[in-house]
Amino acid sequence: MGFLGIITFFPPLLVLMIMIRVKNRVVGEELTFDENYFITYSQDHFVRLQGGSEVQLSLDQASGTCFKSKLEYGSGYFPMKLKLPSRASPGVVTTFYLHSNLDNDTGAHDELDFEFLGTEGPEHILQTNIFANDTGGREQRLRLWFDPTLTFHSYSILWNSHQIVFFVDEIPIRVFKNHTSIGGRYPSQAMVVMGSIWNGEAWASGGKKVDWSQAPFQANYKGFVILGCPFGNRCDSEALEWNSGRQWQLNPRQQELYEDVKRTYVYYDYCSNPTGRELYKECQFE
Ligand SMILES: *[C@@H]1O[C@H](CO)[C@@H](O)[C@H](O)[C@H]1NC(C)=O
Ligand SMILES: *[C@@H]1O[C@H](CO)[C@@H](O)[C@H](O)[C@H]1NC(C)=O
Ligand SMILES: *[C@@H]1O[C@H](CO)[C@@H](O)[C@H](O)[C@H]1NC(C)=O
Repeated sequence: MGFLGIITFFPPLLVLMIMIRVKNRVVGEELTFDENYFITYSQDHFVRLQGGSEVQLSLDQASGTCFKSKLEYGSGYFPMKLKLPSRASPGVVTTFYLHSNLDNDTGAHDELDFEFLGTEGPEHILQTNIFANDTGGREQRLRLWFDPTLTFHSYSILWNSHQIVFFVDEIPIRVFKNHTSIGGRYPSQAMVVMGSIWNGEAWASGGKKVDWSQAPFQANYKGFVILGCPFGNRCDSEALEWNSGRQWQLNPRQQELYEDVKRTYVYYDYCSNPTGRELYKECQFE
């Protein structure tokens, strides 16, 4: 559990110093998977590489697999490096996401998703979605501007009480603001961090079946640091870097990059259809 569990009880300056030490540690030596995560099913579809600082998840006809953080969080910056399966097929879904803990499901779950949808062609589709108090349907899809199967890229989620931002290689690709003051919904429950590869042919491929002749499908993950506030602490404290004033909105440079992504790579947004605009309060700002 270590430093992040403890820092919320210390004054800001000390928090800063410890944060810097966390960062140095991350640069110096990669955290291993087992420090923050565990496998939830199908151990035999999972291998540790590089002494556990990298892992590989596999999907074949028998099963996929899934991992989950040991702790649940109330805010944070959640980065992951991911290399997608080199053999593509419609129906293969690779994910990195936050999810309110299924162990204490209230029937009103919160969820923040990166979902990589396998395709046949050269296109690489990234879908993001947001559930707040059990309402999802906030899909947004874009075509990635690089080949995510060749090398690791970073995919990160910032979550504080003002905004949720999805980043690809530090570029904001999606921003979800807290619009609860006008009746919008916003994730508020403790969430765990998860990753998985699974057969989504019933859902994600427009009826196409997974091409099992290409199996196994293998996704690699690394960079297992979690800069999050373990639930139960003062997770809205502005002394935590991800809650500080400069994380309440994009800075001008980030805003510029975000506008470019929306203009150039996003091809589907739930707010673009009339039903979306009607159902979701936040769409009036899009
Ligand atoms: C959820 O359940 C787990 C154990 O199943 C428990 O440790 C945790 O504190 C619970 N979280 C909340 C937010 O109630
Ligand atoms: C979810 O919404 C219901 C009403 O639709 C409300 O009663 C409940 O408190 C909300 N739960 C959370 C966690 O916000
Ligand atoms: C959303 O913002 C309001 C202020 O407008 C704040 O009171 C509330 O705690 C925030 N919600 C969450 C879940 O952080």
